[in-house]
Amino acid sequence: MKIVVINGTQVKGCTYRIKEIFLDALREGNTIKEYYLPKDLPHFCVGCKNCFFKSEEQCPHAEYVMPIWNDLLESDLLVFAAPVYALRTTAQMKTLLDHLCVHWMVHRPDERMRYKRAVILTNAIGMIQKGAQKDVATSLRWLGVSDIKALGLGLMEGVVWKELSEKRRGAMTAKIQKLASKYKKPRRVRRGIKNRALFFMTKLLHQAIAKKENPLSADSRHWVDKGWIKG
Ligand SMILES: Cc1cc2nc3c(=O)[nH]c(=O)nc-3n(C[C@H](O)[C@H](O)[C@H](O)COP(=O)(O)O)c2cc1C
Repeated sequence: MKIVVINGTQVKGCTYRIKEIFLDALREGNTIKEYYLPKDLPHFCVGCKNCFFKSEEQCPHAEYVMPIWNDLLESDLLVFAAPVYALRTTAQMKTLLDHLCVHWMVHRPDERMRYKRAVILTNAIGMIQKGAQKDVATSLRWLGVSDIKALGLGLMEGVVWKELSEKRRGAMTAKIQKLASKYKKPRRVRRGIKNRALFFMTKLLHQAIAKKENPLSADSRHWVDKGWIKG
């Protein structure tokens, strides 16, 4: 199984330790590729829209974005690990998600995303983590992923891993390992109802838009070339 990990912080702190515990359970027999943000994508989306109107290859940051996107496409398990900042995901994680909008179903999706499993690992001093998880999950759903699980860990006692009590670290480790155990064996992913419904709705939308276009936009051309709509 191929695993790609997007680390939403470069700090080797709690997020790093949590992600390492998760991966340690899966290292045997699997290939793991990791990206650290912002090092591996040090630029915000500038809003040029080259990706939408021309090609994602013409994104000014394609040299950073394309390797990440290709690894996401080629992996079976996608892991997103990020701390909660101001109740949401980190800006550097959001920056990657912004760069991937071109592959949302409303633009140019890739059918390979339907068969991925994804895990979102968050931690925060407190328990409110849904917003940060949703930031990532929303993008993944629109990218076509339907098998998404999230685990949020409330540190409660502080924000420095080695200062947390043995009991706290032990409890978190057990939860992380329990989640990781679900990914030890590759499993066939079934597309969920939500995933099918989103695709169906966007298909109708693209068909209606394509009818009015001459020449076809890059998005419509993609849908026609995939055989999903008529040209
Ligand atoms: C800028 C910043 C904002 C944060 N915002 C929150 C927050 O809104 N809620 C919360 O419970 N913890 C918050 N935290 C704590 C982090 O979610 C995280 O638990 C902490 O940074 C430890 O993880 P790390 O060692 O990987 O950085 C914040 C931390 C930072 C640095």
